[in-house]
Amino acid sequence: MSSPELLYEGKAKKIFRLAGEPDHVLMEFKDSLTAFNALKKGSFDSKGPVNRDIASLIFAFLRGRGVDSHWVRDEGERGMVARRVEIIPLEVVVRNVLAGSTAKKLGLEEGRVLPRPLVEFYFKNDELQDPFVSDDQIEILGIASAADLAELKKQALRVNEGLKDLFHRAGLRLVDFKIEFGRDKAGKILLADEITPDCCRLWDEKTNEKMDKDRFRRDLGQVKESYEQVLQRLRQIGGGK
Ligand code: TMP
Ligand code: ASP
Repeated sequence: MSSPELLYEGKAKKIFRLAGEPDHVLMEFKDSLTAFNALKKGSFDSKGPVNRDIASLIFAFLRGRGVDSHWVRDEGERGMVARRVEIIPLEVVVRNVLAGSTAKKLGLEEGRVLPRPLVEFYFKNDELQDPFVSDDQIEILGIASAADLAELKKQALRVNEGLKDLFHRAGLRLVDFKIEFGRDKAGKILLADEITPDCCRLWDEKTNEKMDKDRFRRDLGQVKESYEQVLQRLRQIGGGK
C-alpha cells in the first residue's frame, strides 16, 4: 500500500488525503509544541494522542450543544478524520478574562474578568505573525463578508458558552481561546482545526495554576503533566455529556 499523500504540515498537525473519502481528510496530531511563531520549539511523547483525545471529546460535546464541526471520527491513537474544508484565514479569539497579548498591548494586569466575552480576529499569516485585524479591515479588504463575520462571531460565542460550562465542570476556568473555521463544499461555515490546551488558556479554579501552553511559553515546567491532567479531568466528568 502506498503511503498517504501529505497535503499540508503545520506546527502541530499533519493533514493527509484519505483514500476513498474525497470529502474527508486525515489529521495527525504531532508531539511537537511551538510558541512565538515557532521561535520556541519543544515536544513531549504523549502530546499528539492527548491533544487528539481532548479535541475529539470537545468536538463531540459541542455537537451535542448544537455546534457542528469538521470532526468525523478518530483513527488510531493520534488521527482524526475530518470533513474537508477551506480554512477561512482568520484566527478567532474569544476572551472571558484579560490575559496574554491584549493585556500586554494595553498595559493591563492579567486576570481582569471582562463584563462580556471579547471576540477578536487575527489575520492568519505566519510571515506577518498573525496581526490583529478590525471588523472593517476584514470586510473592506475582502477577507470575509459582513454576514460571514456575524456568523463567525455567533458560532464563536456559542462555542464559548459550551466550553466555559464544560471546563467549569472539570474545575478549570476558560480564560481565552483561539478557534478557526472553514467552509465545506456547500459553502457552510464549520468549526475546524482543533480545540486543545495549545490554543486555550485554562486556569485551575482553586489554585489559579495555568494548565495550558503558557506552561511551555513561560517555562513553568510540568507541561506534559498539565495536558494529561486536562484530559483526565474531562474524562472524569464523562466528556461533559
Ligand atoms: P494571545 O493572548 O496571545 O492573543 O492568545 C489568545 C488565545 O489564543 C490564547 O488562548 C492562545 C491562543 N493562541 C493560539 O492558539 N495561537 C496563536 O497563534 C495565538 C497568538 C494565540
Ligand atoms: N501558536 C503560535 C505558534 O506556535 C503562537 C503561540 O501559541 O504562542 O507559534
